[in-house]
Amino acid sequence: MAPVDWQQAWRQGTTPWDAGTSPPALRHMLERGQIPAGRILVPGCGTGYDLATLARADREVVGLDLSDEARAAFLAVHADLPGPVSYEVGDFFSYEPQDAFDFVWDYTFFCALDPEQRGAWAGTMERLVRPSGLLATLLFPFEDPLSGRDGPPWPINTDLVRSLIDVSFEEMEVTEMEQTHPGREGRERLALWRRREP
Ligand SMILES: C[S@@+](CC[C@H](N)C(=O)[O-])C[C@H]1O[C@@H](n2cnc3c(N)ncnc32)[C@H](O)[C@@H]1O
Repeated sequence: MAPVDWQQAWRQGTTPWDAGTSPPALRHMLERGQIPAGRILVPGCGTGYDLATLARADREVVGLDLSDEARAAFLAVHADLPGPVSYEVGDFFSYEPQDAFDFVWDYTFFCALDPEQRGAWAGTMERLVRPSGLLATLLFPFEDPLSGRDGPPWPINTDLVRSLIDVSFEEMEVTEMEQTHPGREGRERLALWRRREP
């Protein structure tokens, strides 16, 4: 399959993944107090609803996406947020922040990547999450067993992600989400991982 030209998709406004709001799973984590204060990264954040949902005075929230158009769409909607939020345009794989992150939230980013990029995704997560920091992967479209159908979104599951990050992340919990965006029912699992100490 040809790699996806994400910038062109944004320029053309072809963004069928955009659900218009944050997934219920993110609110579920917030309500349970599972999201720490400190530095938070949302890679492949698209329109950035999740940046706004995560914004709080004691969190420094950073969104990252390849697309200027996605950033502009975020800025057009979100003016006053209750905490520091920045949106950087750049490539996740070569992103080099000054400090690592306390929490990284991945929703529809891993599943959007070409399968050949998965090893690099794992290595980059290891670099970006500080030791003892948390990585949350909201796994969609969840399939077990995997069908092997082409993406994006590429079907994914916990075993697949575990096989990539097991060396550097400890599995904390995996929850089947009862509430999802419409049309994604039964196909989301929330997996929480803690970065191992080196
Ligand atoms: C399927 S979309 C999901 C967007 C958002 N998470 C959502 O749920 O609406 C994947 C996003 O990842 C971005 N993306 C793809 N590859 C990227 C990379 N290497 N670095 C940063 N962003 C990337 C795309 O531009 C796109 O906005």
